[in-house]
Amino acid sequence: MKKDLLKLMDLSKAELLHILDVADQLKYDQKHGIAHPILKGKTLGMIFEKSSTRTRVSFEVGIAQLGGHGLFLSGNDLQMGRGEPIEDTARVLSRYLDGIMIRTFSQEMVETLADYATIPIINGLTDFCHPCQVLADLMTIREHLSTLEGLKMCYIGDGNNMANSLIVGGLLADMEVAVATPKAYKPDASVLSYAEGKPFTWTEDIFEAARDADVIFTDVWASMGQEGEAEERRKVFTGYQVNEELLKAAKKNCMVQHCLPAHRGEEITAEVFEAHANEIFDEAENRLHAQKAVMAILMGNL
Ligand code: CP
Ligand code: NVA
Repeated sequence: MKKDLLKLMDLSKAELLHILDVADQLKYDQKHGIAHPILKGKTLGMIFEKSSTRTRVSFEVGIAQLGGHGLFLSGNDLQMGRGEPIEDTARVLSRYLDGIMIRTFSQEMVETLADYATIPIINGLTDFCHPCQVLADLMTIREHLSTLEGLKMCYIGDGNNMANSLIVGGLLADMEVAVATPKAYKPDASVLSYAEGKPFTWTEDIFEAARDADVIFTDVWASMGQEGEAEERRKVFTGYQVNEELLKAAKKNCMVQHCLPAHRGEEITAEVFEAHANEIFDEAENRLHAQKAVMAILMGNL
């Protein structure tokens, strides 16, 4: 395993499955009162340049459950927010902390942080990808459907950070991945080239993408940082909605997943959301277990 978790493309299939296996074990043990203070005395710095509910709380609770300490660092309050170079921030924070989780805009900035830091860097979402979320997603699918290999994953909506990570994560787990986005909102070119020659399809047709799917994902039409485009996006993405009609194209008992927050009436109807709320909140819970696994492996050499 590399020093950092910056994007799923950096993982091998064996490394991905190792994270999921450790996550399953940590979840089981937590439910049975078995503690693993693997990170006793260690501190995770958590840098946020964007809002968060799940990522912040699950990382902070996760490190505490592993015996360590989480330090919330708002990007605006750090000197980084006033222009201190990321290269210097990386080297300074490496002297105090045992790991950094960062949520920000630029993937390149996170990669630079990792290059200059001597401690593990964990990507808690960039404009490019959301690897921790997709680890939790794969964990949830495996929990509900017992396997990943050979299942069909479908993603409907914007070709954003979630789409990018789901494509890579799904293909790495030997799933079939079908994505429907408007033509001008395709997933990142590097992800499309990663998917070439693998069981991946892109289409503009949501019904084609959803056909015989085992699990359907969607995400917001306007991501954090795109608030100014929200109105225009609402027009472009009309029709890219997970609703009961779409689910008829999928397999019976098809799962529905959403990383949250969800916009009912936009990318998903309230009916579908509520009908699949159990799976969706399992997915949210699994952020905690998947990230504990990532921290235990990267910061505790598990
Ligand atoms: N899904 C997710 O990352 O949620 P938050 O933005 O609340 O962290
Ligand atoms: N695509 C969304 C995901 C939020 C967890 C965003 O970046 O805002």
